[in-house]
Amino acid sequence: MQKLNKIYEGKAKILYTTENPDLLIQYFKDDATAFNAQKKGVIDQKGIINNKIATKVFEFLKTRGIVTHFEQFLNDREMLIKKVEIVPIEVIIRNRAAGSLCRILGLPEGMTLKCPVLEFCYKKDELGDPLINESHILALGLATEQEIKTITQMTLTINGLLKEFFAKINIELIDFKIELGRYKGSIILADEISPDTCRLWEIGTGNKLDKDRFRRDMGQIEEAYQEVLRRVSQ
Ligand SMILES: Nc1ncnc2c1ncn2[C@@H]1O[C@H](COP(=O)(O)OP(=O)(O)O)[C@@H](O)[C@H]1O
Ligand SMILES: [Mg+2]
Repeated sequence: MQKLNKIYEGKAKILYTTENPDLLIQYFKDDATAFNAQKKGVIDQKGIINNKIATKVFEFLKTRGIVTHFEQFLNDREMLIKKVEIVPIEVIIRNRAAGSLCRILGLPEGMTLKCPVLEFCYKKDELGDPLINESHILALGLATEQEIKTITQMTLTINGLLKEFFAKINIELIDFKIELGRYKGSIILADEISPDTCRLWEIGTGNKLDKDRFRRDMGQIEEAYQEVLRRVSQ
């Protein structure tokens, strides 16, 4: 599949059109950003690692009945995906307190939550992706009530599946962010699932295997991403 035109360059990926109007090529860059792009850097090999991890995760989810935009792994940095209309909402699921939840509610990092916390953020870089609720989504017309129901149900199901997927390789899924899109009348999983978009802690040691190593200058960033790839490839 040939790349035609670049239609979008984001913080971590580039999208290209193909001869097929329904399909795009998603190219993974090594660029890393954090804190609403105030912190910028490069994680060597990240694009390659994330493309491979996302491929494994999408393939796993497909076997469990989740419809995703993933079509095919093309090469180290590129995957073929279905072109969707992205719902401008980032959906976050948290199984333990970390990151912004600790900041907003004054919780200790790693606190066990009685049930998963579901959050919606408005996907708008200029505003720093603010936290919103269902009422905001309806009032702004970002998604319909039915879509919110579908998105909520899908996200909770994906959480259950991914918790089990990572637990098998001795990793605890602390939280993650997903993006969903509209494709031929249904809502499907889009974007990526990788150590950029998940918090992943090694079971037993609590060792962080995700972008928090970059956010907090903890070092061994590439090694942590490689370790996740090694385990999901088992
Ligand atoms: N299947 C898809 N079809 C169309 N757009 C997509 C699809 N999957 C992801 N996207 C969008 O492509 C962009 C991916 O690049 P990324 O670097 O993550 O961008 P951003 O800086 O906006 O987060 C995101 O804006 C994401 O919403
Ligand atoms: Mg993104």
